[in-house]
Amino acid sequence: RRIDWTPMMAEKGGHKHFMHKEIWEQPRAIADTLRGRMLLSEGDIHFEGWNLSADKVRTISKVTILACGTSWHSGVAGKHMIESLARIPVEVELASEFRYRDPIVDSTHLAIAISQSGETADTLAAFKEAKARGAMSLAICNVMGSAMTREADISVLTNAGPEIGVASTKAFTTQLVTLYMLAVKLGRMRGTLSVKGAQEHLTHLTQIPKMIEDVLKCEPAVKRVAREFMAAQDFLFLGRGPMHPVALEGALKLKEISYIHAEGYAGGEMKHGPIALIDEKMPVVVIAPKQPGVAYEKIIGNIEEVRARGGKVIAIIDEDDHHVDGLADHVIRIPAACALLAPVVSTIPLQLLAYHVAEMRGNDVDQPRNLAKSVTVE
Ligand code: G6P
Repeated sequence: RRIDWTPMMAEKGGHKHFMHKEIWEQPRAIADTLRGRMLLSEGDIHFEGWNLSADKVRTISKVTILACGTSWHSGVAGKHMIESLARIPVEVELASEFRYRDPIVDSTHLAIAISQSGETADTLAAFKEAKARGAMSLAICNVMGSAMTREADISVLTNAGPEIGVASTKAFTTQLVTLYMLAVKLGRMRGTLSVKGAQEHLTHLTQIPKMIEDVLKCEPAVKRVAREFMAAQDFLFLGRGPMHPVALEGALKLKEISYIHAEGYAGGEMKHGPIALIDEKMPVVVIAPKQPGVAYEKIIGNIEEVRARGGKVIAIIDEDDHHVDGLADHVIRIPAACALLAPVVSTIPLQLLAYHVAEMRGNDVDQPRNLAKSVTVE
C-alpha cells in the first residue's frame, strides 16, 4: 500500500497535529533546557551571560514577574519556586495591567519578563516600563534575538525549539524548569540554599525528562476521559499551592482549543462561588499530587465536596496514591515529583485532555479560532 506523505506531515513527524508533536517532545525539550546549566558538584546553576554579582542579588527586595497568557501561569508557579528557595517576595503581574497603571518600582526590584515569543506587545511594554523606573531586568524567552531578549540585562533561553501550535505546551513546561533553575541560582547567591540543598534540587531536575516520558503513558486513560466529557458545556479545574497555576493552565488549554467554557480555581476558593455550579453534569478536574503540609488533605476535601454534590471527579494523583480510588470517577496517575516541580508533571495530562477533546470535536487544534500565536498588537 502506498502512503502519501506531504511535506507538512513530515514536519509533524508522524503526529496528526503540531500540538500533539510538541506535547510528546517535552522530555527532549526539557533535557535541552537543562543541558549545560546544572553544576551538580558545585550545587549551582550556570546561565550564559549572567552578570549580576552576589552583592547585587542580595539587594533585590522584590521580584516582579511580567507576562501574559500561559506564560503568566508559569510566572504564578515561579512565585512559589523563588519565594520558597530564595526567600524573595514575588509579585506576578498581568503585563496588560501593570503597564497602564503607575506601578511602584525601584532599583532594588528585579523585573522578569516571561514570554515564549519574546514579542508580546503588552509584556514588552511592561518590561520597558519597569526598566525605565530603575528595575534590574531578566527575560525568560524561547526565541533568541527577540525584542525582549534585546531589552533585557540578562536573557535566559528556554531552548524548547520552535513551537508551532497556537496553544502553548512545551514552551510552558520549559519555562517552569527555567524558573526552578533560576530559583536555585538566586537561593545560592543569597545564601538561603546550601550546596547540599541545591544539589538535592538539581537531582530533582535531572529526573524530570524521564518522569515526563512516563507520564505521557497516561494518554489512553486521558483519551477515555476526553471521550466521556467531550460534549460537556463547562469544566472546573482545581489545584492548591503550586498546583493552582496548573489548574489555571488546564482550563486555559481547554478553552483555547476545544471552545468549552472552563474555569481554573484555587481549591480553597471553591466554596466562594464555583460550588454553586456543581451538578451531575459538571466534570471537575482535581490536580492532587501529594504535597507537604495541609494542601494535600485540603484538596482531597475538595474532591469529597464535589462528590457530595454529584459532580464528576477526574483526579490527577501520584501513582502510588490510592486515597481517592473510591471517590473519583476517573483517576489519572502520574509519577511523584517534589511539590515545586509537580506542576511540570501534572500539566501533561491536562494538555492531552484539551488536545483530545478538541480533536474529537473536530476543531482546528493548531489554529484555534480568534487566537494568534504571538500577539504583537495592543
Ligand atoms: C498568545 C498565545 C498564548 C501565549 C500568549 C503569550 O495569547 O496564544 O499561547 O501564552 O500569547 O505569549 P508569549 O509569546 O509572550 O509567551
